[in-house]
Amino acid sequence: MTAPLFAAAPWWRPSTGRTLAIKGGKPLVGSYPISGAKNAVLPLMVSALLTPHLVTLHNVPANLDVAVLAELLQRLGCSMNWSTTNGLSVTLCADRVRPRSIDQDLVTRMRASVLLLGALLARCGEAQLPLPGGDAIGLRGIDFHIAGLRAMGATVELDGGTIHATAPHGLRGAEILLPMPSVGATENLLLAAVLADGTTTLRNAAREPEIADLATCLIAMGAKIAGVGTHELTVEGGAPLKGAVHAVLPDRIEFGTLACIAAVTDGEMVLPNSHIDLLGTAAQSFEAAGVELRDAEGSVIARRAAGGLRGIDVTTGPYPEFATDLQAPVMALLASATGASAITETIFEQRFRHIDELRRMGANISVVSRTALVRGVDRLHGAAVTCTDIRAAAALVIAGLGASGETVLNGLDHLDRGYDRMVEKLAACGADIACGG
Ligand code: UD1
Repeated sequence: MTAPLFAAAPWWRPSTGRTLAIKGGKPLVGSYPISGAKNAVLPLMVSALLTPHLVTLHNVPANLDVAVLAELLQRLGCSMNWSTTNGLSVTLCADRVRPRSIDQDLVTRMRASVLLLGALLARCGEAQLPLPGGDAIGLRGIDFHIAGLRAMGATVELDGGTIHATAPHGLRGAEILLPMPSVGATENLLLAAVLADGTTTLRNAAREPEIADLATCLIAMGAKIAGVGTHELTVEGGAPLKGAVHAVLPDRIEFGTLACIAAVTDGEMVLPNSHIDLLGTAAQSFEAAGVELRDAEGSVIARRAAGGLRGIDVTTGPYPEFATDLQAPVMALLASATGASAITETIFEQRFRHIDELRRMGANISVVSRTALVRGVDRLHGAAVTCTDIRAAAALVIAGLGASGETVLNGLDHLDRGYDRMVEKLAACGADIACGG
């Protein structure tokens, strides 16, 4: 038997090879269970650093980002016990934390590793973190994170690409106004605030469902947080936290991606562990584009509406507006809709790298500033394409499944980072999809 790639995540196997070949044009029919949300499970795993007691998470997605974070946490002294009997679950125990043993290579693989900063500072009074990596989709500064931690009394210095943060006398509550509702900064400061001494008010906080999921788990651990689901969070910090058991909320981005796949292939897919409201206002955009969604007892049934796919205008924004993570997938869908679409990206300034790849497949897309103008073509055709980030990878899978002929994808780490066994689950619904290399 081969050794696991990550000692801390023995369940992890890449679901793709070096390439992925998709023969498009087959309607996908069947059940595709939606996993726990990638963007929720990462801060939830980090929350275990705040307590010496056990934190158990159910509905954990089996993806590469989870495996990388598990490895990071283990090197920091957090032990993990995995169970695969009913989906993937993990029990984390951070009774001994070593805040200085962060691994540079692992941190630079994933931007969410910046969340370790708030939790380690709060628990240990110090943290040293190489500047985090992640998708190449924009500047993605961490200035809001750092300003917030400084307001809570931390000293934060940048030295040769490493962040050195200390709070030898502990963090204290503060009034913090975020310049924009950053998801990561809201999570980082929330993780820090629950152990800080006194009251923290976080204004212009992000209110993505993944943040409410984190707050729900922290409250179960004994934290006092008011305003969950709004733009203003108030945290009465300082009390020691206990352990908790929490089920990760379903992944709304995976759900939206699969809705696009059902519609683009003109199939009918049942998506267990989802409901339409998860999508926020994107649900109306999907409906307007001809993606029919119907709630059915804990699942959503997704298919193309009788009138076919139609061009629509989409502008991304903070939740509940259209999620930036669904921008690339929906562009792949609209590339073969009837009529034109204008897709405006307001969150990340470089999130159009999938357009060149979609053009290789025959898409008619031009870009003016932050808006992509998509003129729907009859059908995309297969081509050799490269995945440039997680959601670009999902977009190319959507495009490939809808296209005529064969599409061959490279750069598949991106797909593995964000999607739990996507290839296997698509094949079970009838996709002609095969890993190579
Ligand atoms: C999270 C999600 C990502 C999603 C994004 C927006 C995770 C692991 N990732 O990323 O999938 O696309 O939210 O919904 O949950 N910014 C700054 N300074 C900061 C922080 C952010 O300038 O200190 C800017 C970023 O460059 C970006 C914008 O704010 O332009 C939004 O970023 P943010 O909401 O923080 O995204 P992430 O937390 O990185």
